[in-house]
Amino acid sequence: MPDVTLSLIHPGHPLYEGELELRFRVLREPLGYTRAQVAFPFEADSLHLVAHQGDTVLGCVLFNPEDAHGGRLFQMAVSPHLQGQGLGARLVRSLEEELRRRGFTHVHLHARGPVVPFYERLGYAVYGEPFTEVGIPHRHMRKALDT
Ligand SMILES: CC(C)(COP(=O)(O)OP(=O)(O)OC[C@H]1O[C@@H](n2cnc3c(N)ncnc32)[C@H](O)[C@@H]1OP(=O)(O)O)[C@@H](O)C(=O)NCCC(=O)NCCS
Repeated sequence: MPDVTLSLIHPGHPLYEGELELRFRVLREPLGYTRAQVAFPFEADSLHLVAHQGDTVLGCVLFNPEDAHGGRLFQMAVSPHLQGQGLGARLVRSLEEELRRRGFTHVHLHARGPVVPFYERLGYAVYGEPFTEVGIPHRHMRKALDT
């Protein structure tokens, strides 16, 4: 997959609207949510890593710091026509490198049931009980960044 650049952005960056649009199309529209329901209250406090070709956003993953040591990975999405080609894994690994540089030691996330194996390949482990979020089954998963 040539020419795909990963960039850390923030709300207000020229790529941010493209990131929101991708999140809506991949993660929210299929569940019946409106475009206005895409943004989280803590957008500005989160890290936004986007994969893009020029100004076209093709993938993203976000991280919300919860304390000085860890936080939650969320809004993981890859454009449908590029899924299964390694971009999602590249985004997670690159985010983890950035988090290590910033001194974070652990990450947790809410994985949609069918996506648990994707995160397991990246070293995340399931914990706790299954739960429902945005109307679909999820599992808690976590990883220590020194592993
Ligand atoms: C889930 C998602 C982010 C994965 O990104 P991707 O670019 O398609 O995944 P990759 O190609 O990087 O896959 C990495 C590895 O995980 C595996 N994998 C990916 N999705 C998988 C799945 N649903 N089930 C089992 N394995 C999966 C791949 O086969 C690959 O294995 P390999 O290391 O042996 O080659 C992407 O498919 C997507 O956006 N899905 C829709 C939105 C979504 O469900 N987001 C997650 C919400 S928790």
